Amino acid sequence: MAILVTGGCGYIGSHTCIELLDAGYEIVVIDNYYNSKPEALRRVKELSGKEFPFYECDIRDAEGLRRVFSAHKIDAVIHFAGLKAVGESVQKPLTYYDNNVAGTVVLCQVMAEMGCKRIIFSSSATVYGTGNPSPLKEDMPTGAVTNPYGRTKFMIEGILSDLCVSDPEWSAVLLRYFNPIGAHESGRIGEDPNGIPNNLMPYISQVAIGKLPKLSIFGDDYDTPDGTGVRDYIHVVDLARGHVKAVGYALAHTGAEPINLGTGIGYSVLDLVNAFKAANGVDVPYTIAPRRSGDVATCYSDPAKAAALLGWKAEKNVEDMCRDTWRWQSQNPKGYDE
Ligand code: NAD
Ligand code: WQD
Repeated sequence: MAILVTGGCGYIGSHTCIELLDAGYEIVVIDNYYNSKPEALRRVKELSGKEFPFYECDIRDAEGLRRVFSAHKIDAVIHFAGLKAVGESVQKPLTYYDNNVAGTVVLCQVMAEMGCKRIIFSSSATVYGTGNPSPLKEDMPTGAVTNPYGRTKFMIEGILSDLCVSDPEWSAVLLRYFNPIGAHESGRIGEDPNGIPNNLMPYISQVAIGKLPKLSIFGDDYDTPDGTGVRDYIHVVDLARGHVKAVGYALAHTGAEPINLGTGIGYSVLDLVNAFKAANGVDVPYTIAPRRSGDVATCYSDPAKAAALLGWKAEKNVEDMCRDTWRWQSQNPKGYDE
């Protein structure tokens, strides 16, 4: 039995590969290296002490995918491959619809052709959009998204749900991630963003190490306890372990199932800055800046469905997230470029 991991060289994919290998699964990884480097998988092999096949392959390349499925008996696919920069998606919507949506269609066509009908998909809390109050539950309405990236996630959830209706052999677990941060506790793998980070945690850690002068906090006048935005930050290793549970679920069930992966706890921007300073004994200078367009005040999960269906809940706390991020950042100041 083998699990195909698309985008397995990326931030969440590389951590999930380790957890799958530790749980005894065989894995096959594909990635086109658009946003990742071979060094990440070299370190996954080093940390796990296991070998596995890798193919440099684009999910839009049906012939390439057929070769992978022909060479291995794939029982389920964990589908991470996709573009994820919100701002870039506004500038290049067609690139995002092509890569994320059309790419997923090609992947599912080849899966159906090769008789593999179980997929675990990287969706996002962004599908809940702007209209729902937190805690966010899976049965709330989705689709009021604020950018093309979010729309690709909403569209793919719809495509996979339609597929499950059309053919009862399909199983699709739609994992809605909240805000993944942190790194493997070894400090050997972590998030390695290109250029200036868009997301809060990599920005904080690059300020702490002196690569960036100071953090801009986007708005301090939200309707939240301290006025800054509140999010549900989840340790990437907890998230990765949620995927191992989701594989077990997909192998035993059919149909489409959206499931939140979050902690259920909201932290403000200032909470996270203060937790990072306290956990690591470093300074994080900041300034208050205008709100960022498209941001909501508060976004955190109701994690009950993941507990009920997957038997999973997040175990690591915000201190673990801050400490592990800093270990990765300080031991690898240039990311995977040594
Ligand atoms: P990442 O960019 O680190 O990983 C994605 C990987 O997919 C990269 O290695 C990239 O090279 C690869 N890839 C992209 N397009 C491809 C293609 N056409 N063919 C083959 N490989 C391709 O991102 P991540 O943070 O690990 O996110 C993984 C998934 O989770 C993405 O789908 C993302 O949208 C989703 N997600 C991420 C977050 C987050 O905050 N990181 C939150 C919610 C959902
Ligand atoms: C968190 C908080 C910002 C940067 C994004 C995507 C979402 C998902 C996860 C993929 C907010 C504030 C941030 C900074 C700041 N990705 N902030 N200064 O926006 O919750 O979610 O990543 O699916 O789709 O939208 O995460 O880390 O960008 O922001 O003040 O320099 O930090 O305003 O309140 P977000 P984030």
